[in-house]
Amino acid sequence: MSEIAEIILDGQSYKLPVVEGTENEKAIDINALRAQSGYITLDSGYKNTGATTSAITFLDGEKGILSYRGYPIEQLAEKSNFIEVAYLLIYGVLPTTQELEDFSNKIKMHTLVNEDMRKILDGFPSAAHPMGILSALISSLTAFYPESLNPNQSKEEVDLSIIRLMAKLPTIAAWSYKNSVGHPVNYPNNKLDYASNFLQMMFAFPTEDYEVNPVVVDALNKLLILHADHEQNCSTSTVRLVGSANASLYSSVSAGISALWGPLHGGANQAVIEMLEQIKADGGDSKKFIAKAKDKDDPFRLMGFGHRVYKNFDPRAKIIKKTADDVLSALGINDPILTIAKELEEAALNDPYFVERKLYPNVDFYSGIIYRALGIPTDMFTVMFALGRLPGWIAQWKEMRENKEPIGRPRQIYIGETERNYVPIEKR
Ligand code: SDX
Repeated sequence: MSEIAEIILDGQSYKLPVVEGTENEKAIDINALRAQSGYITLDSGYKNTGATTSAITFLDGEKGILSYRGYPIEQLAEKSNFIEVAYLLIYGVLPTTQELEDFSNKIKMHTLVNEDMRKILDGFPSAAHPMGILSALISSLTAFYPESLNPNQSKEEVDLSIIRLMAKLPTIAAWSYKNSVGHPVNYPNNKLDYASNFLQMMFAFPTEDYEVNPVVVDALNKLLILHADHEQNCSTSTVRLVGSANASLYSSVSAGISALWGPLHGGANQAVIEMLEQIKADGGDSKKFIAKAKDKDDPFRLMGFGHRVYKNFDPRAKIIKKTADDVLSALGINDPILTIAKELEEAALNDPYFVERKLYPNVDFYSGIIYRALGIPTDMFTVMFALGRLPGWIAQWKEMRENKEPIGRPRQIYIGETERNYVPIEKR
């Protein structure tokens, strides 16, 4: 017998069904509440509101659990690779050898972007932030593939749009970096795997051979897997909301890129490094900056700390912290800001302010230290997050469309002026 929630409003009883998920999460289904009672619910920032049901990713914030289609993130990070995880998220199952080969080869066949895209890229000043370029160029894919605008695309057409996006985003991302440093762009090399191809597009020079370092490729695969999806976070909810209006996959993901750019969200990985650099330049006194983070009158926040869902630890942060140690020692790098990061974490986790508010390092706290060790510039860190999150955005957009979810249109409670008459300007 499923549970029922009862609400008493103005002396009237309303009974609402309770929904329970496969991991025993429970929700009150309020679909009928407004029609029955005239009341809506109010939840700024949707802290307690479920927007949908989904079969893609499961998080348990109290236990620090994260799984993609039921597979624990720890196993996928250790044993899988990014293209296999992308297939799992998008199509719901781990691919067979043949399915993975087909998926990977189809992606390789679409890594080139139309040369006209370089005219758009050349229009950006070299100081343009790569996230702004990425969002614009991904949206411009609708111009090169106008058939993607058709909301009634066949499964095959949707699959082609998915392949094109998975294939072209790394090329566009690498080109946005080359634009920012005024270097010639590199073209995809389809003999290389996904991560290696991205690295050569980022770092190869026409004047010298580029050798892909297997330590770097392994670290990049792990980082991309750890960022691949995270249920209904800000940017994914943006992708779903935009897609619910029957906007194309490219337009929906372009909107998600803009949401991810925010420093409270994916932009935090760049903000963490800038914060650690600030602490180092200021003399490296972690305790001083912990005090600033606690001071309500000080706008300084400990970037990379805290999470809307995780209230004990972010399982991704644990894996990334270990990967940071492994990569820096394998590459023989001694980065003083890693030491500062560890001191900061230690100080915060022993400070009542952070403990009481359940603020722990999140996915962004250590990831920038690895990107830095891989030679990726700071303003490309959030682009790296987008590269990882892409299959999650695609999977969530696809699920929303396949479930024929209605256009998203939240309600509000109006608190403005009540009706009043217009006053001619001469009488104001
Ligand atoms: C990502 O949602 C996802 O899944 C996101 C993500 C994903 O994979 O998609 O995991 C990726 O976005 C990770 C988060 C990256 N952002 C940061 O690291 C920025 C710093 N963190 C915060 O701004 C904050 O913790 C958020 C935005 C992450 C969460 O904010 P909430 O849940 O709205 O919590 P809040 O801002 O209401 O904070 C609760 C309290 C407040 O203090 P009080 O008013 O109770 O006294 O904690 C304080 C906040 O001031 N607080 C912090 C803090 N984070 C929260 N104080 C100092 N430093 C911080 N980092």
